[in-house]
Amino acid sequence: MSVQSNVRRVTTNTLQEMKNRGEKISMLTAYDYSMARIVDEAGIDVMLVGDSASNVMAGHETTLPITLDQMIYHASSVVRAAKRSLVVVDMPFGSYQGNSKEALNSAIRIMKETGGHAVKMEGGEEIVESIKRILTAGIPVMGHLGLTPQSIYKFGTYQVRAREGEEADRLLRDAELLDQSGVFAIVLEKIPAKLASEVAKRVQVPVIGIGAGADVDGQVLVVHDMLGITQEFSPRFLRRYASIGETMHHAVAQYVADVKSRDFPNAVEQY
Ligand code: KIV
Repeated sequence: MSVQSNVRRVTTNTLQEMKNRGEKISMLTAYDYSMARIVDEAGIDVMLVGDSASNVMAGHETTLPITLDQMIYHASSVVRAAKRSLVVVDMPFGSYQGNSKEALNSAIRIMKETGGHAVKMEGGEEIVESIKRILTAGIPVMGHLGLTPQSIYKFGTYQVRAREGEEADRLLRDAELLDQSGVFAIVLEKIPAKLASEVAKRVQVPVIGIGAGADVDGQVLVVHDMLGITQEFSPRFLRRYASIGETMHHAVAQYVADVKSRDFPNAVEQY
């Protein structure tokens, strides 16, 4: 019997229980099988197949170009690796903003074709109808407020959102609306820590922050950022846990040198 076969799967209920007893939730992105296996085995609670795949996997400047088919490809690879963690799949730009029927169809495709456990959607009041319709199909939904990268051309910058005034009030209202509409968790991206803390207190469901301070129910980072694979991106909220990009660079450079110098392969590295 493999060690993993009797591991209990994290569910949306598990996350709620964690919030209720004050245990922090850990979440990282994953986009492919090999990385997801490592992340899952290391004990992460939630793997997010983020539309940040558009940036880190495909090299696009924004998350807007990634398609539903591409998200389904990434998500099905991650699901094959996930033995314990809950797999949440981002609904990409253009797959849910049209109307609630389109949103439901996109969510159903994700669930059917990937085996993922939940979907994530960016937005507040304007997507509540779609969230409710998706929930009627029994599909759990995670919300996402604050800096919502699918709206980057509306914001014009990747700076901190909802610093004060009307935008902060609206974020609080949107968080309460999402909570009431039945989402199982809410991601808050790049907003003041004080506001995030207030949201986490006001809503029942777990609040998971990225650049939203410590006083929320869990944290999420993009795995390529925290491992130091993407080296050019270094916002204040990002803690780097490794320098994998540098390690890979040295390894590849050494391999090139060894091939050129005829050091590789040696006598025992052949048949
Ligand atoms: O796509 C993504 O990686 C995300 C996280 C930043 C929360 O939505």
